[in-house]
Amino acid sequence: MHYIQIAIDGPAGAGKSTIAKKIAKKLGILYIDTGAMYRALTYKVVKLKVDINNIEKINEIAKETNIEFRNGIIFLDGIDVSLEIRSQEVTKLVSFVAQIPEVRVILVELQKKVANNNHVVMDGRDIGSNVLPNADVKVFLTASVSERAKRRYLEMLEKNSDLTLAVEDIEKDIKLRDKMDSEREASPLIKAKDAIVLDTTLFTIDQVVEEILNILSKKNIID
Ligand code: DC
Repeated sequence: MHYIQIAIDGPAGAGKSTIAKKIAKKLGILYIDTGAMYRALTYKVVKLKVDINNIEKINEIAKETNIEFRNGIIFLDGIDVSLEIRSQEVTKLVSFVAQIPEVRVILVELQKKVANNNHVVMDGRDIGSNVLPNADVKVFLTASVSERAKRRYLEMLEKNSDLTLAVEDIEKDIKLRDKMDSEREASPLIKAKDAIVLDTTLFTIDQVVEEILNILSKKNIID
């Protein structure tokens, strides 16, 4: 049985999760938000008050943590943490946790396992380049930093009405995360050689979704 694998990568705020979710829904297949997995682990580290520089302890926690998606909802050790993983604190610290090589090995293995047993749309930073190197389609989404900051701001505002951050703070934070995600040694944010680049700055979400569905259809992956 061939399972469809669609890889969507790109920097924070490029529209990956909204777009990936819509495609998964249209095709009736699983959507896996790999950023949410790194966030869930970071949330646990924060909750346990572990120093973010204590890599040994974080590795230990990663080994004994259960992260899974049930009906598109992320569960950390059996508890729904969808809201908690979007907090400002987790957002600030997640790049530190995501750059630990052992953490990546554990989470990447989990991601591969899901993709080997289900049709998936998976989004992240290293999906096309590392997690699913044989994906049927690889898309690399980009957008200008200011547009990405604006989108993140609106998204955060929607989820958290007492948001104390300004859009400028988010832009600063995005630039820092882009830098950390791109410059880390363990599978950095990188465009896979065979990925199709789509700049979403001037397009609506639905236009980008349409474009990806066209690509899938041209490649005979969907009818
Ligand atoms: O997409 P996001 O903002 O939820 O991702 C959270 C963090 O996790 C981000 O700093 C990059 C990191 N990440 C990663 O290193 N590899 C992935 N496949 C997905 C996310």
